[in-house]
Amino acid sequence: MSNISNNERESIHGLWSSRLTFILAVTGSAIGLGNIWKFPYVAGANGGGAFVLVYLICILVIGFPIMVSEILLGRKGRRNPITSMQLLGKEEAGSQSWKIVGFIGLFAGFLILSYYSVIAGWTLHYFTLSVTGGFGELDTNQVNLLFSELTSSILTQAIFHTFFMVITVIIIARGIKNGLEKAVKIMMPALLFIMVILLIYSITQGDFAKGVDFLLKPDFSKITAESILAAMGQAFFTLSLGMGCIVMYGAYLPKNESIVKTSLTIIFCDTLIALLAGLVIFPIVFDNNLAPTDGPGLIFLTLPLAFSDITGGMLFGSLFFILLGFAAITSAISLLEPSVAWMIETQNVQRSTSAIIIGSVIWLLGFLTILSFNDLSEFTFWKGTLFDNFDYLASNILLPISGLLFTIFASWFMTRSSSRSELSDVSPIVYAIWKFLARVVAPIGVIIIFLNAINIF
Ligand code: PFF
Repeated sequence: MSNISNNERESIHGLWSSRLTFILAVTGSAIGLGNIWKFPYVAGANGGGAFVLVYLICILVIGFPIMVSEILLGRKGRRNPITSMQLLGKEEAGSQSWKIVGFIGLFAGFLILSYYSVIAGWTLHYFTLSVTGGFGELDTNQVNLLFSELTSSILTQAIFHTFFMVITVIIIARGIKNGLEKAVKIMMPALLFIMVILLIYSITQGDFAKGVDFLLKPDFSKITAESILAAMGQAFFTLSLGMGCIVMYGAYLPKNESIVKTSLTIIFCDTLIALLAGLVIFPIVFDNNLAPTDGPGLIFLTLPLAFSDITGGMLFGSLFFILLGFAAITSAISLLEPSVAWMIETQNVQRSTSAIIIGSVIWLLGFLTILSFNDLSEFTFWKGTLFDNFDYLASNILLPISGLLFTIFASWFMTRSSSRSELSDVSPIVYAIWKFLARVVAPIGVIIIFLNAINIF
């Protein structure tokens, strides 16, 4: 009975036009500031190689099964993450309470987008700096100055944060398909191209050997409960897991597309970009006597140095920061879409109204992040500034908790026939591997990492 109703359920927001669109949209969600801005500074703060190793393990044994679970749940539910979990919870496990998982994810998305937009605003500001020739002949002191000028100005940050949120809201208000597909198709390869140019710069001009050493050679004495938790949090953040946006995007995936293959493609692209970013940043860090532990400003301190040094630096610098801004937009829309879809589906409001209301609340919340780098930078508790706490709570705690619950639901509570019908293209062995990872390895991994970290919470 339940199967019949599931098969009939359709997304009210339409479907992706092809598998490629879906891959591009999810890759667009996954690849963003998390890969290029966050990965290097979190890896830097957590000791480099050892962190990267744990991160890669988390991606494979935790990230992969959870991504498959989330897409599967979305496609089966065909609604926003909260309603999908409510419907599926009732059909598959006799309890609507599973919708709470969707709520946790959406709340995490609120927090993340509020600071994500501010940082995306920084990249837009750096774009304007580059276009106007601001990266000519820079040294370490000057890049520090440029960055502190930005963070000390509430107005500059507010202008770019507002601009970024407005664009995100407009795209969401126009519906997921219009524009997104074309944008991602051009921007992602272009971003990759500039990353390769930067990599060549790092290899030839930076301290490449030291950078590679730092990033890829694990020093096991640096592995702590804190760094393991950070690596897991980063794996969730970078793959956009636990927030519900993958469930949401899965809801728009046509029935005949392969979930496992798409997940692997997305994970491969995302990891490649993150590692590439690390290989670009650290050689520049070491060559210029900057510190890997320089925190959220790391790419804003290193990359202008590279751009001021290379021929065509103004062009590449401008392109890089604008593309990073675009990469951030394709992630930001995925952070906003689930709550907007939830509001449309449950509160009976129009898409544009919903996008404006939710976007405004998140925009306001963003000012707390702006102030964290400014007037409230001394106001610290628990993990640091308000920004630090938002990020820690969302990435390291909320995303893993809801990701864990999504995967437990998909692998333990859904009937075999339901999950198998979503994964019908893969062989029984691949299905069994997913199930084992989703049922046992990922949950145990997340729980052990949490338990290990409990005294640092
Ligand atoms: N994955 C995005 C990035 O790496 O920049 C950020 C993100 C998007 C996190 C969507 C969480 C999310 F649900």
